[in-house]
Amino acid sequence: RLVPIILCGGVGSRLWPVSRDHHPKPFIRLADGQSMLQKAFLRGAALPDVEDILVVTNRELFFKADDEFREVNQDRRALSFILEPCGRNTAAAIAAATLQVAAAHGPDALLLVLAADHLIADQAAFGKAVGDAAALAQQGNLVTFGITPETPETGYGYIEAEGSKVLRFVEKPSLDKAQQYLASGRFLWNSGMFCFSAGAMLQAMQEHCPAILDATRTCIAQSRMAEGKGVRQLDLDPELFAQVPDDSIDYAVMEKSDRVAVVPCNIGWNDIGSWTALGNLAEPDGSGNRVEGEALLHDVTNCYIKAGKRIVGAVGIENLVIVDTPDALLVADKARAQDVKHLYAKLKEQG
Ligand code: GDD
Ligand code: MG
Repeated sequence: RLVPIILCGGVGSRLWPVSRDHHPKPFIRLADGQSMLQKAFLRGAALPDVEDILVVTNRELFFKADDEFREVNQDRRALSFILEPCGRNTAAAIAAATLQVAAAHGPDALLLVLAADHLIADQAAFGKAVGDAAALAQQGNLVTFGITPETPETGYGYIEAEGSKVLRFVEKPSLDKAQQYLASGRFLWNSGMFCFSAGAMLQAMQEHCPAILDATRTCIAQSRMAEGKGVRQLDLDPELFAQVPDDSIDYAVMEKSDRVAVVPCNIGWNDIGSWTALGNLAEPDGSGNRVEGEALLHDVTNCYIKAGKRIVGAVGIENLVIVDTPDALLVADKARAQDVKHLYAKLKEQG
């Protein structure tokens, strides 16, 4: 049995003003009308040996997420939720999911962790990669999916590999290191998806981050399970969950474990890290402009413009990102799209 786990958290501050606390990145709808969250669900549901899907998300997002799944869950696949009262990062979210799967299906059940905010263009290649990963996971490995790196991106994990064997996992290296890794040709990007047996992950957490595992276990023991309209929800206890140490699975387990394996894959992976990445999904016009919604352009080149309810007019500009929403307008240099997160931080400071 393979249980897809969809992690839906994090704000996606680089996609402000469309991504917000109450409308985070996974809920952004793409040109085909589907959200990234719906795509993650369909990606998991289309795999063989999948009967149920588990979603870990903030409890404030439950109704919104549940609505999204109902829209696409035509074959009425069993869905359960683990609801977080606050974000404690991916190690806690994965610990909770692993404990639940182990309790329901035993230590040999396989988990496939999927991010709610990625795109994967080639579902067939993805399915094959998951098959390879499942075989490695059955042998007790913590399996990552490796993407051929293109730039010295510092927001990713880097995997030094020989075949499927991982020699080293380095999360978010400095630019210096990232450049060296890229030049060496020996590294892959970590896609942020993982496959492992429940037993192997519990053992790795016991060894490398026992405080996270214990605190999550204690929290689950005191948490309420509810069931309504065919959906099961585990409501994590707020006081106990707040005490789980905050760390990502990459730092807490993947960098430390010697049981990490990798499936190198070419699946059309895109983690939509910025407006530039999102904009690149739209077809460019003859001047390299990508436009969503209605825009009037004169002498405009290489811009990404996402209009909302209003028409956007632009004259004589190049290499800009313009995103209009009812209450906020973003204008940014395309090359600085990563820095949009600073606006979000400023907004938080101002309260
Ligand atoms: N439920 C839940 N709770 N989900 C969370 C939480 C949380 O507290 N924090 C993050 N997530 C979800 C995000 O929504 C996303 O789907 C996924 O977990 C990964 O979190 P990010 O915050 O986006 O991680 P990252 O981008 O910094 O790094 C990870 O992904 C990179 C690829 O996109 C790492 O795994 C890197 O090694 C990897 O290269
Ligand atoms: Mg990310």
